[in-house]
Amino acid sequence: MERLREQFPSLGREVGGRPAVFFDGPAGSQVPQVVIDAISGYLSSSNANTGGAFATSVESEAVVDEAHRAMADFVGASDPAETAFGPNMTTLTLALARALARTWGPGDEIVVTSLEHDANYTPWVQAARDSGATIVEAGIHSEDCTLNMDDLQAKLGQRTRLVALTAASNAVGSLTPVADVARTAHEAGARLFVDAVHYAPHRLIDVHGWGCDFLACSPYKFFGPHMGVLWGRRELLEELTPYKLRPSADTLPGRWMNGTPSHEGMAGTTACVDYLASIGGEGPDGRRGALRRAFERVADYESGLAVKFLEGLSALPDVRVWGITDLARLDERVPTVALTHARRTPEEIARILGERGIFVWHGNYYALPLTEALGLEPEGMVRIGLLHYNTAAEVDRLLDELRRID
Ligand SMILES: Cc1ncc(COP(=O)(O)O)c(C=O)c1O
Repeated sequence: MERLREQFPSLGREVGGRPAVFFDGPAGSQVPQVVIDAISGYLSSSNANTGGAFATSVESEAVVDEAHRAMADFVGASDPAETAFGPNMTTLTLALARALARTWGPGDEIVVTSLEHDANYTPWVQAARDSGATIVEAGIHSEDCTLNMDDLQAKLGQRTRLVALTAASNAVGSLTPVADVARTAHEAGARLFVDAVHYAPHRLIDVHGWGCDFLACSPYKFFGPHMGVLWGRRELLEELTPYKLRPSADTLPGRWMNGTPSHEGMAGTTACVDYLASIGGEGPDGRRGALRRAFERVADYESGLAVKFLEGLSALPDVRVWGITDLARLDERVPTVALTHARRTPEEIARILGERGIFVWHGNYYALPLTEALGLEPEGMVRIGLLHYNTAAEVDRLLDELRRID
């Protein structure tokens, strides 16, 4: 992992003569040099729109095709045309919600959960309102901030048309049983939309293994550029009617991609998927196999950091961790840790740490359904997000600084 750090130029940044510590990954991760090179390489030599009869346009099309293939490998899809690119997850989810709402009506129910980022909540609330459907909210276990599966199951029924579920909470790090929810949703005749934005840098997404119907994620959270990606089952993406312009393609994936996408972002996305695959190393099973091995390594390394961090935090009497703290349950969470302090507000803590070169978030980071359910508005929590480029020494440094706060 130390060798991997060398690939990220921004990790060399200093604050007050000390290395900066990037624990702000859940809001956007740092980027390895190969991604920067892919973006600037595209802009330097192949920059053009697609569909033209000249070299740079033909090259741009190849860049676009390769990005779809990379994202299909990344999410575990066999068909690259099932992946659509957009500016971010929120925009793509709003577009999908608007298309799905055309098929809903009064009496239909849409299930959301209290664990969500607002991007997997308000688009469905608005789409339900416009179509006359009803929103039903499944709750959490507030003691460990995990999804309440009994409540979710009780809220699913004949009327449910869609379940919108995060694979991992961007605030407290809890994982959800996506495959179980997919099964239950399908038994009720509903579809499952998965928000994998926070999950993506930590574990392997597996749309076929999970059996979900739609999924969205954002490359800028997994070491790539600012972009969003939507995946959906081919027959659903074909049968739904998105809002789109007349001259734009009516075939997949074009019908879900409005306007000219960021080709440089797509070049960078391929590079970040290849960067992740490189952690898995070469093997007989192609890029998907390499990604599988890479995420096993990432999960293993991250869980070592999580043990150290959670153990250290448990010795700080002023700190309360919101989420799973039981070290025997680390496979139910990613190392994104939210905490509050007995005497300092989350903003004060983030400011003090920021001055000392440690970058963390405070507030609700748009996980408003969760902070509301926990009664933590308006101040929210401090969020420390560990990624595989973080180190045990950085965790120690953060624990020391937290200890020093009076
Ligand atoms: C879990 C989760 N879902 C959705 C989003 C929204 O993603 P985007 O910024 O790509 O719209 C975020 C961003 O922080 C997130 O963490």
